[in-house]
Amino acid sequence: MRDRVLRELADGPVPVPELAATLGITPAAVREHVEALRVAGVDIAAGEGGHELRATPAYGPAVGAGLDGFEVAFHDSLDSTNRRARDLATRGRENVVVLAAEQTGGRGRLDREWVSPRGGVWLSILLRPSVPPADAPVYTLAAAVAVTRAVRELGVDAVIKWPNDVLVDGRKLAGVLTETARDGDGLAWLVVGVGLNANIDPGDLPGDRPTTLRAECGDVDRFPLVRRLLGEFRRLARDTGAVLPAWRAHADTLGRRVRVATGDRTLVGEAVGVTFPGALELDTGDGVETVAAGDCEHLRPAETS
Ligand code: BTN
Repeated sequence: MRDRVLRELADGPVPVPELAATLGITPAAVREHVEALRVAGVDIAAGEGGHELRATPAYGPAVGAGLDGFEVAFHDSLDSTNRRARDLATRGRENVVVLAAEQTGGRGRLDREWVSPRGGVWLSILLRPSVPPADAPVYTLAAAVAVTRAVRELGVDAVIKWPNDVLVDGRKLAGVLTETARDGDGLAWLVVGVGLNANIDPGDLPGDRPTTLRAECGDVDRFPLVRRLLGEFRRLARDTGAVLPAWRAHADTLGRRVRVATGDRTLVGEAVGVTFPGALELDTGDGVETVAAGDCEHLRPAETS
């Protein structure tokens, strides 16, 4: 609800009774939310026309102000937000989003280094969903969808390469690293780490053809971007049945010839589908294989191996 109050105030000024009517709460509840947002560092003006957001809060601790469902822990610098979220997990915490302005030891998939200078969005979401451990990949796909939707809103033509790379014209804009722990047969916790190259020069990043929002659309305001991303992720995490249809709508892999390296084998074929919780169906010519996890490369039509 506090998030909705903030959105209405951004379009302000709006008188308290009007805001209360729009949101279906009492004027007293509106005043409580406004006060809590102010305490969280949000600059809200009260004038004759009503309450109004004076300026979009800076990217910092206020990112979490009134965000329903998540507690946000913002750090100026961390080795890795995933590492910090794992620590919080071992202390029994949940529904925490760890954010850092920079990471000094960010990790990517396959234990690769993930270079994370200031200007990017580096965050990890700690959840304890009551689902079997095998369902964990659906949260990874949900994060890729959330990032894609949030940046498409900025006019960036982002798509998803299976399972969770967010690309623009074949260049990597964002990646997701999910880590889990089991508790007997169940899932103890899940940490979904998102790295989004935002206000960074691509030349400052290593790797094969990275891109950044700065290169795609110019520097962006990360405050609304992160809130949008987290809002999308929260919706999908609460309704995981909606993840695959959303993923398919933004997928760049389906219908393409791909090479997928799993732990022990490499498969080449046409990506024909994705099934719950995020497995890729590959038509190899000898039938359809279902691949749960792997490194996927899009091939040009002429490449066959
Ligand atoms: C990938 O290899 O594509 C996944 C990259 C994930 C990077 C993010 S940045 C925030 C979080 N903390 C980390 O150390 N890694 C993830």
